[in-house]
Amino acid sequence: MGEPAPRTEGDALARAVRAHEGRFGVPPTLGASAPGRVNLIGEHVDYCGGRVLPIAIGRRTACVASATHGPTRVLAADLAADNEWSPGEAAPRGSWQSYAQGVVEEVRALPGSAFCPELCVTIASDVPIGAGLSSSAAFEVSLGLLLTRAWGREVPRADLAMACWRAEQQYAGVPCGVMDQMVVARAEQGRAMLLDCGTGEVRMSPVPGDVALVVIDTGVRHRLGESEYPKRRAACERAAALLGVGALARADAGAVEQLPEDLRPVARHVISEDARTQRFAVCLAGGDLSGAGRAMNESHASLRDDYRVSCAELDWVASRAASMPGVFGARMTGGGFGGCVIAIASRAGGAGLHSVVVPEYEREFGRTCTVFEVRASEGARLERV
Ligand code: GLA
Repeated sequence: MGEPAPRTEGDALARAVRAHEGRFGVPPTLGASAPGRVNLIGEHVDYCGGRVLPIAIGRRTACVASATHGPTRVLAADLAADNEWSPGEAAPRGSWQSYAQGVVEEVRALPGSAFCPELCVTIASDVPIGAGLSSSAAFEVSLGLLLTRAWGREVPRADLAMACWRAEQQYAGVPCGVMDQMVVARAEQGRAMLLDCGTGEVRMSPVPGDVALVVIDTGVRHRLGESEYPKRRAACERAAALLGVGALARADAGAVEQLPEDLRPVARHVISEDARTQRFAVCLAGGDLSGAGRAMNESHASLRDDYRVSCAELDWVASRAASMPGVFGARMTGGGFGGCVIAIASRAGGAGLHSVVVPEYEREFGRTCTVFEVRASEGARLERV
């Protein structure tokens, strides 16, 4: 196993450098990268003031840049068409250009000099799009870090993450929580990040070395989630307002019964998931992998039955994986409606997942899934180019 081979030969950084030289005719002088992420537990609670426990993964998005006398140009090296954009040109909501525009505007607005030198920028990524591994935060934070360096903005990582979060909200039009940008900007190698999205408090927690964290990508891409995500979020806001609490995740579990029937399952998921995240963190820190796995299985059931953001493929993979020897637990990760399952296993259990789940999944759904192990990796960093 191990992480799968990147999409083409070489990693994202090498591809970005090659594409940059090919398009702009000069080598880049500045580079930055940011990882994708897997959330171990704490799903759909970040926008309700809850606790989440993600890790950064080894797959990264890379940005490189060189100075130019012309206007700033941004090249998305992995796209075959419509792959170049300049600030000021059209950036329809949700397009890659809208993410770029949001980051450019938000980084420009951070404290620092009014002079922002013009740049040629090239971006390449090894994080699959729409798989629930946060390709968008990897894109935003890698570009954001590059621009803060190029434009002399010295900001703490949490501020960079918030600038990228605003970019996604206001320019790409996605009403996401803060989890993805925070972990992508701030993750540390070998550690999971317990983030309290209500208070902003962060606790880094070592991932035991004998644990295999295995991602199973169903290959289903989460289109439906685009319209369902804002609906779930709105339901949570309604429930919080009715209960008179700021953070739904911290409401009393008993209070759920006071809500109208349609809001009860939504609130039940959020409140129980927040508690499960805390329980999982304690289990992981104490080496109780069976307890951690149980919390993951319960999380999946809650996302499937109460929050209703799963799909047949995710349900099948999560339950098949969890039933295997040496696998402690499994659950969907990310926004849902497709994307990936994360399983926590012993080393031997992790190795078994590939040989069993891939052929059975293909028989069941007539399509392939991809299985790869992830390790808790470093967050955004500057790269030598
Ligand atoms: C997406 C969002 C996150 C979070 C997850 C669900 O990844 O970007 O903010 O809400 O879904 O946990």
